[in-house]
Amino acid sequence: MYVLGIESSCDETSAAVVRMDGETRQICSNIVASQIEIHRLYGGVVPEIASRAHIEAVSRITYEALEVAGLKIEDIDCIAVTSHPGLIGALLVGVNFAKSLAFAHKIPLVAVNHVKAHVAAAYLEYPTLKAPFTALVVSGGHTSFYRVNTPTEFEEIGSTRDDAAGEAFDKIGRVIGMPYPGGAAMDALAKEGDPKAIKLPSPAIVGDNADFSFSGLKTAALNYINSERQKGGEPSHADIAASYTKVIVDAIVKKTDYIFDKYPTEKMVLAGGVAANSHIRGALERLCNKRGVEFCRPSLSLCSDNAAMVAAAGYFEYLEGNFANTSLNASANDDGT
Ligand code: KG4
Ligand code: ZN
Repeated sequence: MYVLGIESSCDETSAAVVRMDGETRQICSNIVASQIEIHRLYGGVVPEIASRAHIEAVSRITYEALEVAGLKIEDIDCIAVTSHPGLIGALLVGVNFAKSLAFAHKIPLVAVNHVKAHVAAAYLEYPTLKAPFTALVVSGGHTSFYRVNTPTEFEEIGSTRDDAAGEAFDKIGRVIGMPYPGGAAMDALAKEGDPKAIKLPSPAIVGDNADFSFSGLKTAALNYINSERQKGGEPSHADIAASYTKVIVDAIVKKTDYIFDKYPTEKMVLAGGVAANSHIRGALERLCNKRGVEFCRPSLSLCSDNAAMVAAAGYFEYLEGNFANTSLNASANDDGT
């Protein structure tokens, strides 16, 4: 069946058509219109501007996705739209557009959780992947471990108690002069610095848990940069990126190792925008090899926000009969309330 996915939860308007049936997975189109250049002027996403940019793009991007797939709207069997979590105004644009399209063309509509969609990206490239498995979602808004019991039923087994890893990368990237979002540039720069140059606190929360806290790490890095600047010098940006990345990677490895002991699993999925980080990918690959766990990590283009992952998650909601109707609302919250 053909699923049309629509994504507008943050600063990317995306529409995609995927064909899924049994173990068939085909990404027929996956169009992403990024607003990054607009928000870069302000050093972060401006919600009101994001909503307006989604309104301007959503219809054009959707019809482009159909055209690239070589399909008409009548060929679509299901429309899947991200309804939560995210920026409320941004989400509402995608939700209202999807509802109108589904209603006008009498196509079944399903609502998708953005975090579950990040994980669903893995099904597109690992067609035989089946729940149960463990997932780690690292993005601009989340750093959470899940026990994925079925494609639609997740149980959170660890998470950040404050900021997400993506926010932590972006914040320090900004302080050392990188354009928003600094995550990918921090990744590249970390390869040129000394990971032991600066002593920073671990974001892994001590004890019998799989939780993180990134706020103390962010403050410690900021204090270090400010005190070096007060002394009249500019600290090495490469050393900051390398040392900062190392404590984050070490914390993720430590808590993933803990999760493997506490919730034995055969497969692990790494998902979300920060899953593109080469240091995290490499370290988790080594850990999974050591622990005999199959490591599933989507390609970079499926890690950042895109609608193919929304369509993939929507396929499973459709199979479960979880249909939405014109009363569907958007929600900023993780649980859709
Ligand atoms: O999943 P995503 O596209 O949006 C959210 O749902 O939040 O994630 C965006 C985040 C941003 O914070 C961005 O800086 C980060 O992913 N990111 C990276 C890398 N590529 C993107 N962080 C670290 N290393 C990367 N290579
Ligand atoms: Zn995302």
